[in-house]
Amino acid sequence: MREEKNIVRKFYEEYGWEKASSDAYQDTAAFVDMRPVMGAYQERCMRRLGAHFAGGGRWFLDAGCGAIASPGYAALSDGHTHRVCVDFSGAALRAARGTLGEGALCVQADITRLPFRDNAFDAVLCAHVLYHVPADEQSEAMGELQRVLAPQGSGVVVYTWPDAWMNRVAVRFNPRVVAPKIPGLRWAWRAFLKRKPRADAPMAETAPPGTPPHPPLYFHPHPWAWFRDSVLPDVPFKLRCWQSAGVPFTQAFIPNHRIGRAMLRVLSIAEKVFPGLMARIGTYPMFVLRKK
Ligand SMILES: C[S@@+](CC[C@H](N)C(=O)[O-])C[C@H]1O[C@@H](n2cnc3c(N)ncnc32)[C@H](O)[C@@H]1O
Repeated sequence: MREEKNIVRKFYEEYGWEKASSDAYQDTAAFVDMRPVMGAYQERCMRRLGAHFAGGGRWFLDAGCGAIASPGYAALSDGHTHRVCVDFSGAALRAARGTLGEGALCVQADITRLPFRDNAFDAVLCAHVLYHVPADEQSEAMGELQRVLAPQGSGVVVYTWPDAWMNRVAVRFNPRVVAPKIPGLRWAWRAFLKRKPRADAPMAETAPPGTPPHPPLYFHPHPWAWFRDSVLPDVPFKLRCWQSAGVPFTQAFIPNHRIGRAMLRVLSIAEKVFPGLMARIGTYPMFVLRKK
């Protein structure tokens, strides 16, 4: 197995699908904003993904299934008779089986070489996996996902951009960084942004001091131009928005109370009304596969 894949497999085998707390895996704790304010927004994004599979069918492929880390993710295959879970990490498949029960058909395989016949699946989902595939095999993996999708089937690949515009804005204009540098805004910094979390605050936003950083994880997202020029001619897809707000954006701009919830509702409306634009500027686009 290639070195990049070994790194990814080792991460998930030994760390990512270990429990960080009673309700979160290490992977979720490291890469997802788990504050309560995010819950409804994340559910709306999951429903948007689920809408692509609402037609139901017999065979649902979850390529790079991971641990099936949330009930919303588990529900994506509702309406399908069989969920086939593929992952090259045994830890992922054991956790998936634990969540989905005996109904899950687990296959340990590499998504760049799927052991299934052409057109086998009514639905194909590949979420947050492709950007962990070696950069020069991602186009091949897209081809594999399209190959196993039935002609009238529904396929969705959730991806991320290397330098999403909304994340760049968040890093540049994060009020916690900008406010203390502007004399007139120092009061706002002291009054609101520097406030210590309440003792009963439900979830630590970042790992406590002294927590070791997580083990290495290979990650290579390609930019939109690469998909347009190298993938789209062979594997047709529509670009749509899954979730525009990533962790840098939400941690910078979304407060953990009702104003934050209202801001996220506005963002959801923008994602619905301008799916192409929000896919381009946001953090997590999705490629909706079409069979040629
Ligand atoms: C970020 S997790 C995503 C899990 C799940 N799809 C989700 O959205 O919650 C990535 C998963 O893909 C698996 N994976 C990464 N590269 C893979 C490959 N080439 N073949 C099979 N599984 C792979 C990892 O083992 C891990 O379980």
